[in-house]
Amino acid sequence: MQATRILLDQNEIPTHWYNVVADLANPPAPPLGPDGLPVPPEKMAEIFPMNILEQEMSAQRWIAIPEEVRQIYALWRPAPLCRAIRLEQALGTPAKIFYKNEGVSPAGSHKPNSAVPQAFYNHAAGIRRMTTETGAGQWGSSLAFAGQMFGIAVRIYMVKISYQQKPFRRSLMQTWGAEVFASPTEMTQAGRNELARDPNSEGSLGLAISEAVEEAASRADTTYGLGSVLNHVLLHQTIIGLEAKKQFEKIGLYPDVILGPCGGGSSFGGIAFPFLADKAAGDKRAQHLRCVAVEPTSCPTLTKGHYAYDFGDASGYTPLMKMYTLGHDFMPPGIHAGGLRYHGDSQLVSQLYHEQQIEAVAVPQLATFEAGVQFARCEGIVPAPESCHAIRAAIDEALKCKVTGEPKVILFNLTGHGHFDMAAYDRYFAGQLEDYAYPAEAIAASLAHLPKVG
Ligand SMILES: Cc1ncc(COP(=O)(O)O)c(C=O)c1O
Repeated sequence: MQATRILLDQNEIPTHWYNVVADLANPPAPPLGPDGLPVPPEKMAEIFPMNILEQEMSAQRWIAIPEEVRQIYALWRPAPLCRAIRLEQALGTPAKIFYKNEGVSPAGSHKPNSAVPQAFYNHAAGIRRMTTETGAGQWGSSLAFAGQMFGIAVRIYMVKISYQQKPFRRSLMQTWGAEVFASPTEMTQAGRNELARDPNSEGSLGLAISEAVEEAASRADTTYGLGSVLNHVLLHQTIIGLEAKKQFEKIGLYPDVILGPCGGGSSFGGIAFPFLADKAAGDKRAQHLRCVAVEPTSCPTLTKGHYAYDFGDASGYTPLMKMYTLGHDFMPPGIHAGGLRYHGDSQLVSQLYHEQQIEAVAVPQLATFEAGVQFARCEGIVPAPESCHAIRAAIDEALKCKVTGEPKVILFNLTGHGHFDMAAYDRYFAGQLEDYAYPAEAIAASLAHLPKVG
């Protein structure tokens, strides 16, 4: 039988995360306050514990994974690396298509890779209550689960459109003991402002972040956890690529191209950065490696955004971060890949894109569902709408190989399963899903409000 699942033993779970900051050509631009000066750690300590802030600012290449975290990772990790042979055959491509299946976690995606250490470090710092936001519902589910593991109460602001599209994601979070509210709410000033502006607002990730940050900053007993974007989140997610490297070693292959959906950039950074480490170390196998972030055409942060200092949230509560952005008050169209509806991107992914170390491509909604359905019919797994973006781009790469005859090794990040996204699939099958035009005007208006720095 041809091997299609490359597995690692539980004791092969990596012992350290990889910090790409150690290998950047230039040091990352510091987060700035409203005065244009770097934000002091004490300011950030209003919403994050010091142990997390230390990781956020670290330039150390390898950071040890606490044993307690590895123990919980072991509930589902190591995640399988799979070869999509039936998809290759259906496409008639000479390419070898692999995917890392992050959908095997309790929450159904890669997000617990960071939720578990975040809950661990908060608990170690004496914190027993956290707030967060969730777009697709995957991050909220993950922090609810992780909070439950460490005895932390979790309150979640869930983007209203996702709350309506995915009622069972809410049930899942409640099952793990979390409180869930549809954002915008009347409970915060940020929510009240948005409801005054538009009583029917569908919300956005940027706005839900504002609500969660506002609450955490106003309560001494509460911290905030972010599911993407920040350096420490990308650090935790490198467990994906580190495992994948060990798995490729077992079969004597190395990827030519790595693709991942990109919302805030955590899963993309997680799968790609450990391979970029090889490139930085002069490893010949990685010399021609391409890493491609895949985003929706309706929220094209890297491909159409500006590289500038901007707020991480809609209301301007967070520090200014240098990143690709569509403008912090841009409200992306209500596509079903809720986890990709974010105006900005991780600073690290943004810098690497700016320095041309990685590539980006934008794909329209219908083509992503077409790819997801083709994948499900070949490989059995129904992917999350976010993951469908990577599948679309992986299929496109494999079809190019069909033309050129190159037997490339393609790796994509199957960031999550789509079991809570069947309403989106229903709408796709009913012909009710649309391709939103590139929202040029809204983006231009929002970019006109970029904060002035320097
Ligand atoms: C399944 C899935 N994939 C990808 C993403 C995108 O997030 P990130 O870019 O942080 O990986 C999300 C975010 O919610 C998600 O739920």
